[in-house]
Amino acid sequence: MKNIQDFLLAKEEKKKITMISTYEYWSAKICEEAGIDCILVGDSVGMVDAGLKTTLPVTIDEMIYHARAVRRGAPNTFVIVDMPFMSYQASIEEAVRNAGKIMKESCCNAVKLEGGEEIAKTVEKIVLAGIPVMGHVGLTPQSVHALGGYRVQGKTHEERKRIIKDAKILEQAGVFAIVLEAVPSDLAEEITEFLDVPTIGIGAGNKTNGQVLVFHDMMGLLDKSPKFVKRYVEGKKIFLEALKQFSNEVKEGIFPGEEHTYK
Ligand code: KIV
Repeated sequence: MKNIQDFLLAKEEKKKITMISTYEYWSAKICEEAGIDCILVGDSVGMVDAGLKTTLPVTIDEMIYHARAVRRGAPNTFVIVDMPFMSYQASIEEAVRNAGKIMKESCCNAVKLEGGEEIAKTVEKIVLAGIPVMGHVGLTPQSVHALGGYRVQGKTHEERKRIIKDAKILEQAGVFAIVLEAVPSDLAEEITEFLDVPTIGIGAGNKTNGQVLVFHDMMGLLDKSPKFVKRYVEGKKIFLEALKQFSNEVKEGIFPGEEHTYK
């Protein structure tokens, strides 16, 4: 993906979009080498990388720090940065300033905001400022306390209607794509069909226009993964074995060997 038109083109041409949420130089570099379409610097960084219970404490400066590292690792990849909790909710003016700060200081390509109708005017103004916006509906982790936990959204008729309405309003407000998180597959399919902009799903079945997974989740680095995650490799197990082997070899005087020693 070079620009937001490529996202629309991908949907028109029925080409699935791949997105990985990640936060560091080295993982971004691997994503670019693997040909991943776009990278999200997600505010999940707070939970995954910093061990927080929610994404709420993550700050703009932390997002920018991680986004700059990702940009250095993946200079040719389309990078989207999450606007963290309370960087866009208080006022439209503050939201536009903060979106601009993220763009200027991280050299990313777009920002992502969680929410629907309640943030539509904010999205509109950010887009008018020339900043591409990705939407995010369904399970919106910044509202975890209001939602009563991390649970699947859109199971009742009312929730379903609200998510559909939110997606429509976001498209009218000018988003170039929408993340659908933790919603039933048939709801994701319905939204994907009526929107012109592509949907990127996580825990939303396989009828969306693209899929996003968190790098650390798919690499099996975390102890447990939710149902929707496919662990493509058991990274934690591999790292654990390597670290145990290093520890044993150092203690037994095996490492460093001749081949790792300067003469
Ligand atoms: O913060 C994040 O990583 C996200 C994705 C899970 C969509 O928002």
